[in-house]
Amino acid sequence: MTKTEQPRTQWLGRWGFVLAATGSAVGLGNVWKFPYMTGEYGGGAFVLVYLVCILAVGVPVMMTEILLGRRGRGSPIDAIGRMASESGRSPAWSVLGWMAMLCGFLILSFYVVVAGWSFAYLWKMLSGGLAGSSVDDMASIFAANNANPWSLGAWSSLVAVATMLIVGKGVQSGIEKSVSWMMPGMVIMLVIMIGYGAFSGGFGEALTFLFAFNANSLSSEGMLAAMGHAFFTLSLASGAILTYGSYLPRQASIARTTLTVALADTLVALMAGLAIFPVIFANGLEPGSGPGLIFMSLPLAFQAMPLGTLFGILFFVMLSMAALTSSISMVEATVSWLTDNKGLSRRSAAWGTGIVLWLISTMAMLSFNVGAEWTLLGKHFFDWLDFLTSRLMMPLGGLGMALMAGFVLNRASLREELGLSPTAHGLWLFMVRYVSPLGIVVIFVDALGWFDIDFADHWPWLVLLLAAMTLLGELLRPGMKEAPSD
Ligand code: PFF
Repeated sequence: MTKTEQPRTQWLGRWGFVLAATGSAVGLGNVWKFPYMTGEYGGGAFVLVYLVCILAVGVPVMMTEILLGRRGRGSPIDAIGRMASESGRSPAWSVLGWMAMLCGFLILSFYVVVAGWSFAYLWKMLSGGLAGSSVDDMASIFAANNANPWSLGAWSSLVAVATMLIVGKGVQSGIEKSVSWMMPGMVIMLVIMIGYGAFSGGFGEALTFLFAFNANSLSSEGMLAAMGHAFFTLSLASGAILTYGSYLPRQASIARTTLTVALADTLVALMAGLAIFPVIFANGLEPGSGPGLIFMSLPLAFQAMPLGTLFGILFFVMLSMAALTSSISMVEATVSWLTDNKGLSRRSAAWGTGIVLWLISTMAMLSFNVGAEWTLLGKHFFDWLDFLTSRLMMPLGGLGMALMAGFVLNRASLREELGLSPTAHGLWLFMVRYVSPLGIVVIFVDALGWFDIDFADHWPWLVLLLAAMTLLGELLRPGMKEAPSD
């Protein structure tokens, strides 16, 4: 078995990996994106499809990433390269690692801008800068916030600096230490917010909105958005989970850990919905107001409520912490690769990466003001970063890793590393070979926009296709040589 010569750092505590990976997964995606997407795509039906995507695609791909990281003992590039050689395959597979590392870095370069909004809104809440009496007033405050490149740039730079400070301190004393208080802290704040929502008068309506299944509201676009979001919210194919997995001790169960992280991430997304929607409904506001939901509707609602400012502050502290525990994970793959391969100290690797990040994120930030006119094929730089990562690189990387585990890697190594019962192992293999790839190809086809297929209307064909793929795959798959398990 190929292993690095030096022992790799490991998480200190029993919960180190779970807290760090949940910190990565729980972020703006849960508190900002998930509630507004649920609002836009019609509530309960979207939530159900999202849960199916988490189970059918998210969990198997996350298990694969942790497996690759732990057995390959390195950053995505090194770990995937080692795993390929261990199975006697071409080292060129490590191109998947390059893509994942780049993907995490590019996500971070626009993520810091949105995280910067959260910090800016926290400051506005504290300093009374969010006074307005209508959604239009709130929209002008939001527009003014984005129109000033100096303040917007300062807030996103602050997020970048905080991220690099934590990552530069190391896996145990930087990442693990910070998530071990930020994660419990944010969950406590979320629970307090839900308690507040329960007494706001809109709780019943919020429950119905989130959990009542209305099949008519299930659009094909909503289904695809749910699948794409499953990738984003679980931080998949961006190097984060794989690199965190490389610090996971051997005795931890990959399946159990993955299920814990996926469950925690899903619960936080639903809890964020239960914290936000009651306040929105209690004030007669629109749930489907898009990305402005928490930056326009929510602050407006808070103003009209008793202790609203206090809870507004709590909300943006929670959001900022959620964003920070995610942003540190996006850069860990790059920092780990630089320290392992380029002889840099963690601190220099983090600050070096930070400088390049700052340049790219400044370009992304300028899309909202000075660079509003700089577009390519109708998209700003910020939108390009989002499109390239969430719509192309994440699905492609996830597909590559699923197929690599399903068809390319040595089966004995996989079995040894996962340590599952034969039935559970067989289920995981079926998922990474057929179910996840088919799901990912469907998102991919949609992202490219070449065909105008309404997948929601044609789902029986998809089931048939899955059956045909499974049959063909199992019949044609070349027998792979089994390595003796050591
Ligand atoms: N999962 C994070 C969220 O939901 O906000 C986003 C994310 C984190 C994506 C880390 C990718 C990543 F590597």
